[in-house]
Formats: sequence, C-alpha cells, structure tokens
Amino acid sequence: MKWVISPLDNSHERGDFDCGQPQLNDYLKKYAAQNQKKGYSITFVATFPDSARIAGYYCASASTIEFKHMPQNISKKLPRYPAPVMLIGQLAVDIKAQGKGLGKTLLMHALVRAVKVASEIGIYAVRVDAIDTASKNFYLKYGFIPFEDAQLSLFLPLKTIKKIIEV
Ligand SMILES: CC(C)(COP(=O)(O)OP(=O)(O)OC[C@H]1O[C@@H](n2cnc3c(N)ncnc32)[C@H](O)[C@@H]1OP(=O)(O)O)[C@@H](O)C(=O)NCCC(=O)NCCS
Repeated sequence: MKWVISPLDNSHERGDFDCGQPQLNDYLKKYAAQNQKKGYSITFVATFPDSARIAGYYCASASTIEFKHMPQNISKKLPRYPAPVMLIGQLAVDIKAQGKGLGKTLLMHALVRAVKVASEIGIYAVRVDAIDTASKNFYLKYGFIPFEDAQLSLFLPLKTIKKIIEV
C-alpha cells in the first residue's frame, strides 16, 4: 500500500481520525496544528494518494533523556548529563488503516528524519513515550530499549537506527 507522508497543513482532513485512543485523536484535532505553528513539534501525516483524509500521523520534536533513566549497561559509557534526543511524541494509525504496515512506515519515516537531523545537530537517540503496554510492545518489536525506571518510555540509539534503516 502506498501512502503520501507530508507535514500537516490546512488541506488535511482531521475530523474523522480515530485510532482507538481518544487522547491521540484529540491531539491531532486540537493541538497538532497549534504546536506546529509555535515551533514545538512538527506533525507528519500519511494520506492515500489523491485524498486529504489522514490515515496516520506522528509528531517529532527535540527532547532529552535524563542520565538516571538510562539502563546501567548503557549509561556507564555516557556523559552524566541529559542526552539530546528526537522525541516521537505521538504515533497513531486510524483503525481502518491498522494492520497494513502504516505504523511501521511512519516509524521508519521518523527514524530516517532522526538520522538526517543528527548530521546537523547532536542526537543520541530517538525517544518515545508509549501510551500503554500494547503500544510499548510495538516499539519493543523494533528494538527500542525501556528506560531504567519509567515503564512506558523507551529509546533507540542512533547507532542502532543507522543499522536498521537505509539512508
Ligand atoms: C500501534 C499502531 C501505531 C500500529 O500501527 P499499525 O499500522 O497497525 O502497525 P503495522 O501494520 O505497521 O504493523 C507493523 C508490525 O508491528 C506489529 N504490531 C502492530 N501493533 C503492535 C503492537 N501493539 N504490539 C506489537 N506488535 C505490533 C504488526 O504485527 C507488524 O508486525 P510484522 O511486520 O511482523 O507483520 C496502531 O495500532 C495504533 O495507532 N494504535 C493506537 C495508538 C497507539 O497505541 N499508538 C502508539 C504510540 S503512543
């Protein structure tokens, strides 16, 4: 299945989006455009060719991971201050489009962005804050590493990302 992925703009139809998680539906409808305007995050949306309806989306912004959250086997090789990361704030696929590879496509799109940005500014990893255990399992599938002490937050080091994508 081919999707078009582009930054959210006024031409995109958000009204009917339903991924099964009200919080993520609301984010797209109420906050994504505002946050983009303010420079807090960029929302990338997937649509079918020749359609304005959003089938899935993710948000990208800059963030950090505090040193104390890093598992010990990793932190022993890192500086003792917060690690710079790209945050995937939300990632969701409309119920009607789930199970067709769009979640993976959006995730890979985000990881490719991270590698591109990391050639200009320091980025150690991509961070995600999963909404529940089921979505955490989605990220675990791609090798994301859980924080030492926060059940639903995970990260994937750039070093690993470069191995799993072709840039
Ligand atoms: C989680 C979510 C993004 C997955 O999207 P999707 O388009 O259905 O996933 P895909 O079809 O791309 O699946 C890719 C792979 O991940 C697997 N997968 C999908 N959801 C999974 C889950 N919750 N746990 C583990 N694996 C999962 C699929 O089986 C598939 O595996 P395969 O390549 O070996 O066949 C989607 O179900 C969703 O939006 N859920 C509601 C919102 C949510 O939980 N978002 C998570 C971020 S907070």
